[in-house]
Amino acid sequence: MDYSIETASVSTLQSDCIIVGLYENNSLSPSATALDQHTRNLISTILQRGDLTGKKGEALLVNFIPDCAITRVVLVGLGKQAPLSKKDYRKALQSAAKVLKDQVINDACCGLVEVDVVSADLKWKVRTTVEIFGDTLYQLKPLKSIPDPQIKLQRLSVLVAPNDQAQAQIGLEQGIAIAEAISLTKKLSDLPGNVCTPSYLADQARQITSSYANLQIEILDELDMEKLGMGALLSVSRGSRQPAKLIAMQYQGRDSNVKPIVIIGKGLTFDAGGISLKPGEGMDEMKYDMCGGASVLGIIQAVAQLALPLNIVGLVPASENLPDGDAYKPGDILTSMSGKTIEVLNTDAEGRLILCDTLTFAQKYNPDVVIDMATLTGACIVALGRVPSGLYGNDDALCQDLINASETSGDSVWRMPLWEEYQEQLKSNFADMANIGGKDGGSITAACFLARFAESYRWAHLDIAGTAWRSGANKGATGRPVPLLMQYLLNRANA
Ligand code: BES
Ligand code: MN
Ligand code: ZN
Repeated sequence: MDYSIETASVSTLQSDCIIVGLYENNSLSPSATALDQHTRNLISTILQRGDLTGKKGEALLVNFIPDCAITRVVLVGLGKQAPLSKKDYRKALQSAAKVLKDQVINDACCGLVEVDVVSADLKWKVRTTVEIFGDTLYQLKPLKSIPDPQIKLQRLSVLVAPNDQAQAQIGLEQGIAIAEAISLTKKLSDLPGNVCTPSYLADQARQITSSYANLQIEILDELDMEKLGMGALLSVSRGSRQPAKLIAMQYQGRDSNVKPIVIIGKGLTFDAGGISLKPGEGMDEMKYDMCGGASVLGIIQAVAQLALPLNIVGLVPASENLPDGDAYKPGDILTSMSGKTIEVLNTDAEGRLILCDTLTFAQKYNPDVVIDMATLTGACIVALGRVPSGLYGNDDALCQDLINASETSGDSVWRMPLWEEYQEQLKSNFADMANIGGKDGGSITAACFLARFAESYRWAHLDIAGTAWRSGANKGATGRPVPLLMQYLLNRANA
């Protein structure tokens, strides 16, 4: 997709399609009013006939406009005439984008930015337009012998007043970078496990790095990990013939003495559960166990593209978790890089094992904050469903920053407790801790496990098990929590 800013007025605009908004009770947005006047009352006639009521979520394509340089229009219902919530604004964009997805239209112009949105500025509205169109028009590339029909829409312009052009341009560039980050994250996440291996992820990270001068990369192989004493990470990878990798990307947008923001993503490219083998049903979805890692790659790419004035480190421990004669076993006791010992009671609780060594490794960057993203527990889906990601952290200010970013970006989170009472569930008779905490509060005890390795810095953890991909008929990656993290980083860059 190609995105641009358009400043022509509706009466002089040339376009294959314009998107305009209207409210209930026949009241039109400014662009809709202009278009109505310009088209001998096309829109008001449609409203009078009752073909459209202006309710939220409505979107109607009128694919013929006589004698007009704008050849089609999508009319989008905005509900009662009042400032829209951010959520409703996003929904309006989504319904417009969905209508355009299945048409022969190559380029369209979105006239919804003029709509009032509660506590949102123009930059946010332009940016969100690009994000939503990019997201909705994302097309999987399935390996089918007869390919799916291609989406035709190639270009989207965003209509703003000439005076707003400069601000709009900033929003546009942010939107493009975020949309491309989401798209990269989804693409990597949707790839099957036989393509997207730890080595493949490392190669992708190398490719991103080669496009930007202020990006650097280091990829640790198993020998490097051994030297560092990463006994937990290496144990998970033992059952796999694909070697584990620890990807370390460094973006420098500030002086090297400015403490970096470290982001970590679980990069388990396939999680069969290991010797504690998962049931067969739905196991294919465990190719998505690297969505956190894919998010790190997407975010680092966007940050470099936007040249944000921040120092950022992206870490991705990448491994498979498979059963094998040499696989790690229940009862095994591991020594992590931190020196803490771990009794394995379930080899399917592997995410925390690859993450704990990465959390220890992160110390060497002297981080300002560390944020990890992981498809960590099925229990998180039981607790919160598939709406918000679970948020944990040892620092209230950091958690609040992430909550604020989630509200702006619409990528929701819900804070969960990390109280010391839960730590008892991780007691082991044979080691410093067990790797599981029993059946109660599974998302919380997993976070408590990680917290033990993140004591020396401000840290937050996002359990994205319920939000990183969709199951069922619409199976596919969502690209979350890229929007959340990008908003957090943009806020940090502005602070
Ligand atoms: N990757 C899974 C978590 C997961 C499961 C995410 C289903 C999304 C959907 C993780 O490695 C795992 O297997 N966790 C176990 C932990 C348990 C053994 C304590 C789980 O959630 O069942
Ligand atoms: Mn597992
Ligand atoms: Zn897993």
